Amino acid sequence: MGQGPQIDRRALLAAGAALGLAPALPALAADQDARVRALLKQMTLDEKIGQTHQPAGGRQKALNSKIDATALDLVRKGGVGSYLHVAGAAFLRELQRTAVEESRLKIPLLFAIDVVHGFRTLYPVPLAMAATFDPEIVRATARMAAVETAVSGLHWTFAPMVDIARDPRWGRIVEGAGEDPYLGSVMAAAQVRGFQGQGLNAKDSILACAKHFGAYGAAAGGRDYDSAELSDRTLNEVYLPPFHAAAKAGAGTMMTAFNDLNGEPTTANAALVRGVLKTQWTWPGLVVSDWNAILELINHGVAETPVQAAALALKAGVDMDMASGVYAAHLKTAIAQDPSLLPLLDQAVARILTAKMRLGLFDDPYRFGDPEREKTIFVGPEHRAIAREAARKAVVLLKNDGGLLPIAPTTRKIAVIGALATDSLSQLGSWKARGQVGDVAPLLPALQATAPAGTEIVHVAGASPRSDDESGVPAAVAAAKAADLVLLMVGEDFDHSGESRSRSDLSLPGAQETLARAVLATGKPVVVLLPSGRPLVAPEVLEKAPAVLATWFLGVEAGPALADILFGKAAPGGRLPVGFPRATGQSPTYYAHVPTGRPADPDLAKDTVRYHDVDIGPLFPFGHGLSYAAFAYSDLALDRDSIAPTGAVKVSLTLANTGAVEADEVVQLYVRDPVAGVARPVKELRGFHRLTLKPGERRRVTFTLAAAQLAIWSPGGWRIEAGKVEVMVGSSSADIRLRGAFAIAAPGKGRDPAAAILTPVSVV
Ligand code: NOJ
Repeated sequence: MGQGPQIDRRALLAAGAALGLAPALPALAADQDARVRALLKQMTLDEKIGQTHQPAGGRQKALNSKIDATALDLVRKGGVGSYLHVAGAAFLRELQRTAVEESRLKIPLLFAIDVVHGFRTLYPVPLAMAATFDPEIVRATARMAAVETAVSGLHWTFAPMVDIARDPRWGRIVEGAGEDPYLGSVMAAAQVRGFQGQGLNAKDSILACAKHFGAYGAAAGGRDYDSAELSDRTLNEVYLPPFHAAAKAGAGTMMTAFNDLNGEPTTANAALVRGVLKTQWTWPGLVVSDWNAILELINHGVAETPVQAAALALKAGVDMDMASGVYAAHLKTAIAQDPSLLPLLDQAVARILTAKMRLGLFDDPYRFGDPEREKTIFVGPEHRAIAREAARKAVVLLKNDGGLLPIAPTTRKIAVIGALATDSLSQLGSWKARGQVGDVAPLLPALQATAPAGTEIVHVAGASPRSDDESGVPAAVAAAKAADLVLLMVGEDFDHSGESRSRSDLSLPGAQETLARAVLATGKPVVVLLPSGRPLVAPEVLEKAPAVLATWFLGVEAGPALADILFGKAAPGGRLPVGFPRATGQSPTYYAHVPTGRPADPDLAKDTVRYHDVDIGPLFPFGHGLSYAAFAYSDLALDRDSIAPTGAVKVSLTLANTGAVEADEVVQLYVRDPVAGVARPVKELRGFHRLTLKPGERRRVTFTLAAAQLAIWSPGGWRIEAGKVEVMVGSSSADIRLRGAFAIAAPGKGRDPAAAILTPVSVV
C-alpha cells in the first residue's frame, strides 16, 4: 500500500508549493490603468470594435488552419482582439509579431484554447477530478496544464467549467464538478488558482475562464442548450456560487452560457451579467460570449437582426464576441443608431486591454511561448506523476462485497472483458486539446506489469459501447469461465458525454448489458470497471456484481492508476460528486432536496414523494465511496452552543483508521436548518477533507463553520435566521456517523453566497 515507488510525492508537493496560490483579481496599478485609458483615447471606433472580435484561428481538430493572408491583413488593421483554436510557440510568436509590429497601435493579441483537463498531458476529466475531493491535486493538475499551455504560446483557457449539473442526461456533466454547489465552489477556486498560478503576471500563468455563466447546467430535460427555468433562490444558492468562488479566487475571465434563463438568453441578460456579475459582485474581469452565441440571439427570438443582437449583447455586458463576427460586422451600425452604446463599448474594450495588461503582454508580447521548452516539456515525468496521482485519487469504489478487491495475490488467471479495456482514446476524455492517444499508458500492459509474476491475463472484447453486435459474447463467457477473476470493463466511451451529447437513456450503450449479464451468469467473481463521463444506470449489473469501480476517463496514466488500485498498491478514496440514480426517469435527483410535506416512505400504501416503480433515492448517493480500510468516527465536539450571525463554530471529530491498510478517507460535513422561513434542504455539504491514515492512526479534524454559511437567499440579500442548526459528519451524504447542533443567536445578513464560502479545515 502507500504511494508506490513510481510517484515522487515530495516532488509533487514541491511543485504545488513553488507554484503557489493566486490572489483575487487585483486592480491594475495606477500607471497601468493610465496606459489603458490613454490607449483607449487613441483608438478609432474600428480599432475598438476590433478588440472585441475573437475569430477562430482554426478548427478544434485543425488549429491555426484559418490564419491566412486575409486574416493577417485584418490583424494589421487592428481588427482582431483575440484568436481561439490556435497553438504552437513559433506560429503564435509570428502571429503576435504581426499584431505588435504591423498594426497602428501595436496592441498584442490574446490567444485562447479549451484546456479543460490538460493541454498535451491529459488528466482525468473534470467530473473525475471532482471525485478526488482533493482541491490540492485539482490545483496541481490545472497548474501543470497551464505550464504546457503557456509554453505553446497561449494566454487563455476556457476553463474551469463550473456549471452545477443535477441531471446526468446532460452530457456536459463530465466537464464540471457535479451536483453540489459547495464542492463546485471548492473545485472552481482550485482550478482558477492552478491556471493563474501566483498571479497573472507570473511565469506560466494563463487566464482562467469560469463558464458558462450562470445557469447552463440547468438545461431542461438535460438537453444541451435548452432553457433553464429556475427560481431566484435556486439560481443564487445552487448555480451561481461556483462562479462567485471563481471570481473570488481571481478568475480573469468568464463566459456567458448559450441558453436562456427564465426566457432571457444569458448573452443578452443585462440583469445577470452586467447586474450581478459586474456590478453586484464588482468583478473586474473580461466577459466573452460562447461560440456564435451573439448571432444566436436571433434564433432565441429576442433580436430580429444582427445589429440588434450586437446591441443587446453589448448592453448585457458581453465584452468579447466569440466566433459570430456580429460585433465586428454590426456594432458600428448599432452605435450609429444608438450613441449611448459607445460608452459601453469603451468599457468592454477597457476590460479587454486590462486583461492583456494583467498578463504583461504590453511589456513583453512574446512572454508566452517557448519553442525550445515546447520540445521537451510535454508529458514530462512530473506531469505524468501528477496525472497518475490524480487518476488514482479519482477512482471511486462503489461496491466491494466480500472484500473482492484488492485482487488476491493468489489469483492466477484474470480475464479482462470489454472493448473499453483497450480503448485508450477514451481515456483522453472529451476535451483533448493537444492530447495524443499514444501518450496514454494502456490498461492491459499495466495490469501485467503490476500483477504478481506468473499471473495470466487474457483479454476478450465481447461487446462494444458502439455496436449492438452480440456475436462476441460467447467467447467472453468462455474466457470468464476459464478465469479465476473477471475484470469487466463496461460503460461509456469518451464521445457519449460532452457538448451536445445528451442522452435520454443512461443504460450501458451497445451490447454491453447483454455481455455483462452473460458474464455475471457464469458465477465467477466479477469486478466491474465502469468508465463514464456521467452517472450510468445499470442497476441489474451493479447490484449483481460483487465489486464495482467508477473509473471515469482518467487521462494519460489511466492504465497504471487502475492497476495500482486493483492490485492494492493504492487504496481507492474517491467519492461520487453526483449520485447515481436507479433509473433514468428519476433524473434530476439530488441529495440536497427540500423535505416536502410528505417525505418519501418505503410504504407504498402511503402517498409520499417518490416513484411507485423504483426504490427511494439514488443507487449510490452523493459523497459515496468505499475503501480497502475502515474508518471510525468519534468524539464530535462543537466549541460553542451558540454563535452570533457574524460568528463561527468549530466542529471537531476524531477519525481513526481501523482497517489493515493505509488508505484515504473523505470526512464530510453537512448542515441543516430544521425550521426556517422557507423550507431548507435536508442536508447541505459545507466542508470536507480528504486525508491519508495508516492502520491504527487517528487524527482530530476541525472544521470552522461560519453562520454566514447558513444564509438563505432572499430578494433583500443573504438572510441569516436565528435558531437551531443541525450538524452532521460522515463518510457520504447517506452515511452520517456523528450528529450535533448549535444555535445562531440572532438574525443577521450575509454578504457572499453561502455555498461559496470555503470552510477552513485543520488536522492534528
Ligand atoms: C462552445 C462551448 O460551449 C464552450 O465551452 C467552449 O469554450 C467553446 N465552444 C470554444 O471551444
